[in-house]
Amino acid sequence: MTARVALGIDIGGSGIKGAPVDVDSGVQLGERVKIATPAKSTPEAVAAIVDQIADQLADRLPKDAPIGVTIPGVVQHGVVRTAANIDKSWIDAPGQEIFSQALGRRCLLVNDADAAGVAEARFGAAQGQRGLVILTTLGTGIGIALIHNGVLIPNAELGHLEIDGHDAETRAAASAREREGLSWERWAKRLQRYYRHVEDLLWPDLFVVGGGVSRKADKFLPLLSLRTPIIPAALQNAAGIIGAASLAAD
Ligand code: BGC
Repeated sequence: MTARVALGIDIGGSGIKGAPVDVDSGVQLGERVKIATPAKSTPEAVAAIVDQIADQLADRLPKDAPIGVTIPGVVQHGVVRTAANIDKSWIDAPGQEIFSQALGRRCLLVNDADAAGVAEARFGAAQGQRGLVILTTLGTGIGIALIHNGVLIPNAELGHLEIDGHDAETRAAASAREREGLSWERWAKRLQRYYRHVEDLLWPDLFVVGGGVSRKADKFLPLLSLRTPIIPAALQNAAGIIGAASLAAD
């Protein structure tokens, strides 16, 4: 049997990355293509780069390969509803339609953290986990995926919970640690406050921590004291690509 292959494209604050994915094993096939996110990340500018990435990967993909694209905002029925860390002109833009037109065929648009969560649940750190898994991506913002018994509940925006009068991601995302030059200990105090609040509201069975900083999980996860087990993501920065491809192939 030949492998089922789909294209996953992950739109982030600094780069837009794409790669072919074997959707049965969740393995990224070969090197990814990465192009810098345009300074003004409007729908038109981003769509042009998404098309360029698909072009560069065309000879590594079957002609009719499904395509999944992620975006760092709420996606309802193909329409982008929020834009915390991308150009505000995305709000209410028909993103799925815009990308489908740029690519010349139908694609699936999904929230970035939801894609990463699906990848971790199907192929990564939360594989086979029953009950409620909460994936949190710590990056520019805080992304959340809620997965119950393997099923995604999309568009959970708990990164924006108000804690101590602040939008939580402005204090506890990885970008806040860098911006404020926080030690691991001081940042971990903020994470402790954040994760404790989330576990008190939703009583998850497992937290999975993704985002680039999860590579350094040993610096901050041991400093947290929670009732919920908390573990680093397994797929790290390939999770968005793998999850988007996997969802597109469903
Ligand atoms: C956005 C989410 C996104 C997360 C990670 C947040 O600011 O509201 O939709 O998943 O950042 O990029």
